[in-house]
Amino acid sequence: MLTRLVYHSENHLGAADGKMIAGLNAIMDASNRNNQRDGITGALLFDTLWFVQILEGERDAVSAALRRIMSDDRHDAVTIMDARPASERLFGNWWMGLALLRDEHKTVLARHGLAKLDPRKMPGEQAIALALELAQSGLNRRLTPTAA
Ligand SMILES: Cc1cc2nc3c(=O)[nH]c(=O)nc-3n(C[C@H](O)[C@H](O)[C@H](O)COP(=O)(O)O)c2cc1C
Repeated sequence: MLTRLVYHSENHLGAADGKMIAGLNAIMDASNRNNQRDGITGALLFDTLWFVQILEGERDAVSAALRRIMSDDRHDAVTIMDARPASERLFGNWWMGLALLRDEHKTVLARHGLAKLDPRKMPGEQAIALALELAQSGLNRRLTPTAA
């Protein structure tokens, strides 16, 4: 059964510097490798304080990925925002696509009723809609060191 799960968590990678970018890229490399193997697609939104991730795939595969992700000390306080059966993939082009949220995304966030990314107040559907709009202008496979 195809399932879509949305969660948020708190970043433990540190502030916006080269080390954070390297940490993010290590996560993205493992995600793309494993998700391709496991038939998982999705998006990862990151604003240096918060992660919001959408995982879609077979329920067993998504559950196994979530168990690994939850025990990862590069973040903390993993909180499920939504999980339900899905009839189709929304992020089928991305084993995992990354969106690093910056000032230039303010207008996109505002269109979704948000001054900034605060996933504690965000329904899962809102996170999915935001990720879909960000995906329209392209997500990242990984970041270049200058992205910080
Ligand atoms: C915010 C965040 C998102 C992650 N997303 C994924 C993911 O989509 N898929 C995945 O396999 N691992 C993901 N990981 C990494 C896992 O926690 C874990 O390190 C990895 O799956 C281990 O893979 P390996 O045994 O191949 O090294 C994520 C980690 C963090 C902190």
